[in-house]
Amino acid sequence: MGLSRRQFLKGVGAAGVVAAGAGLSGCSPAAPAGSGSGSGSPAEGAPGSAAGAAAAGELIAAAYLNPQDYDYRQNTTDFKTLFSPLQIGPLNLSHRMVKSAAGSATYLAGLTDELLQYYVQFAKGGVELIWVEMVAALEPPSDGSPASGAALEFGRKLVAECGKYGAKLGYQTYGFPLKPVNDMTKEDIAAFQARYVSTAQQIKQMGFAAFEINAAGFNLGEHFLSRFHNARTDEYGPGSLENRARFVTECIQKIKQACGSDFVVQVLIDCIEENDNLTNNATLATLDNAVTAPHNKVTTIEEGIGLARLIEAAGCDAMHLRLGPLDNHPCQFGSDLYFILNGIEGATGYGTQWDFSRHWQGQLIANHSGAGMLIDIVGRYKEALKIPCGTVTYMDPAHAPDYFEKALAEGKVDFYLMNRPLTVDAEYVNKLKEGRSDEIAPCTRCLHCHIGSNEMNRAMGYCRVNALTQRVMTAKGPKTYELQPAAAAKKVMVIGGGPAGMEAARIAAARGHQVTLYEKTGALGGKLTFAGMVKGPHENLGDLKDYLARQLEVTGVTVVLSKEVDAALIAGEAPDALILAVGSLPGEVGVSGGNVPVIDYDRFMGNNTGENVVVFGSNAQAFDAALWLTVRKKKVTIVTPNPNEDLDKQQSHHAQRFMTTALYALGVKAYPGATIKEIGDGKITIASDYGVETVIPADSIINAADLLPNKSLLEGIGVKEKYAIGDCHEPYNIALAIRAGNDVGRAV
Ligand SMILES: Cc1cc2nc3c(=O)[nH]c(=O)nc-3n(C[C@H](O)[C@H](O)[C@H](O)COP(=O)(O)O)c2cc1C
Repeated sequence: MGLSRRQFLKGVGAAGVVAAGAGLSGCSPAAPAGSGSGSGSPAEGAPGSAAGAAAAGELIAAAYLNPQDYDYRQNTTDFKTLFSPLQIGPLNLSHRMVKSAAGSATYLAGLTDELLQYYVQFAKGGVELIWVEMVAALEPPSDGSPASGAALEFGRKLVAECGKYGAKLGYQTYGFPLKPVNDMTKEDIAAFQARYVSTAQQIKQMGFAAFEINAAGFNLGEHFLSRFHNARTDEYGPGSLENRARFVTECIQKIKQACGSDFVVQVLIDCIEENDNLTNNATLATLDNAVTAPHNKVTTIEEGIGLARLIEAAGCDAMHLRLGPLDNHPCQFGSDLYFILNGIEGATGYGTQWDFSRHWQGQLIANHSGAGMLIDIVGRYKEALKIPCGTVTYMDPAHAPDYFEKALAEGKVDFYLMNRPLTVDAEYVNKLKEGRSDEIAPCTRCLHCHIGSNEMNRAMGYCRVNALTQRVMTAKGPKTYELQPAAAAKKVMVIGGGPAGMEAARIAAARGHQVTLYEKTGALGGKLTFAGMVKGPHENLGDLKDYLARQLEVTGVTVVLSKEVDAALIAGEAPDALILAVGSLPGEVGVSGGNVPVIDYDRFMGNNTGENVVVFGSNAQAFDAALWLTVRKKKVTIVTPNPNEDLDKQQSHHAQRFMTTALYALGVKAYPGATIKEIGDGKITIASDYGVETVIPADSIINAADLLPNKSLLEGIGVKEKYAIGDCHEPYNIALAIRAGNDVGRAV
């Protein structure tokens, strides 16, 4: 049957997936320009290969609610509209990409030089309007006394330094309710508004050009706008759109009155709301915002447009439109998280799943992995408003050039607010403008950048791809974003072409060292290739691999493929510095015998696993494998000696939550603190730390045990400067591998 994957998904639909699965053979998603080789050339057993196709046909129809189409990434555009002027109030910008406010830097820093540099790098990189999120030390003291001289001085310097590169600054302030909206007196409301006004005045004094009222998510403005929270009975209550909008419209008017009509005010709202907590159980402890509410109280698109009209009439200069999933804060800004689970796109993190054709008024663009999800809805706002409308979350023109250019050209959106694509690569805008999109570091949508609520994730709270973005702010992190040129060019030998090795090589070479990277296989990428296959295209790991490989070319690294390095080769080359990045050794299941095959975790996709699959391990690989198997109807049991809190800990806190809740909802059973005591015939015996033994059926065991360091090559090597980085030193995750590569690349 000669269907393309796209035709297949469109024409057959979710219900036909099982029956038509055979038609997928040979119909792997095409790799459009810039989509990354990892997603375009499936290996044996990958979803797009013959073996993988049969498996893909077994996707559970019920779980496969939201078929994805990755054909949206073509790149034939000249970005004519993207690089055309944008006017916001009196501000004239030459392109349509704006840095959105995001507290990724400020929670770590006071008024430091690092904070200053954080913003200056966006200005240098070509961003012309940068929204700075709340920095407490920049704001006037809450007792009403005047701002400190240090705050004014810092603010002015920040404005001046960014101004050198042509960027203007906006400021978004604190918007969290100090008490429930329904308990606020008129005096409380007036006091909150007065605080906005004094902050706006102060930042204007510093030279900021704009102020943003955050009336989305869990911020106070949203609590007035949305019937979900607002049950007041006065003129700020939900009786009419005017009343709901009154808090925000008064804020705009008061700020304009105090700061002048040419001081820009932008308002951020939820442009459509739904309640993520689909259980609708008022007693259920909720994950993030401690709110539950009936579905009929959420703000519809039509209501949102009505509210935006009132906001416009009050003098607002631009709208910032975001998704409003109530009850799920990470998805209020990182709504692409809904697409992170390969094969159950639409999972909510509550163990439930959206059917995007019916939820969100059926109007999200929900078949492109979250990219540009709001574009059509924003188009409706634009039809009703005169002021520019910007939108945010996975608005990434380099990721899908034609798609994002077309939305601008068709007038659906005026500008894109961007955060993660710019924090991953602060030079994004300039590189795109110069036609160097293959040099843009891709965001891999992992959300490591947003610190989660547990200790482990706090420690991992920095960008997976850009090892500097959040870390320069921290006491232990690098001191500067700039690369220090090498004092003397050294001959550097890097062994291993995975993420750690490639990052180390490119940084060392960019600093002026003479670098050769050896890779024993015929291709670069290391474990990124496997990770891209098992995770699917959402995390853009193919793009990451392509980016790192391109960086090796750009920085002049000599790459030697298909060459296994041994002590003799090292002695012959006599490098000044040796960087070992060869990856880990497999871990041990710890028991042998019996009649159940043990399959290495990176080979399971090409193997017949049988029905009952035991995944031994707790790391991200174990969970990725468990998901891949579960959506293909396998009965998966996870067994690990590690404690419960270690399950899937290598992922960001948010990704981890989505993964574990979805797997448990689909019937996966996990035995933490347990070992496999005995392998029998078609069954295994699990022994828990508590002395309980359980026998379960098992047709195969996937070995995803804790990986082991692999540094023996360094022993006895006479190179003075030698390092082991990434999994060969400390097996963990991509973020740690890249961080280690970056650190060593700068240290060598
Ligand atoms: C670490 C982090 C912190 C954020 N802090 C804020 C914030 O303080 N105010 C805000 O309006 N949005 C905040 N956001 C949301 C971003 O501005 C943006 O909406 C989100 O990252 C989605 O856009 P992107 O896909 O371009 O990253 C934050 C996002 C992240 C990842």
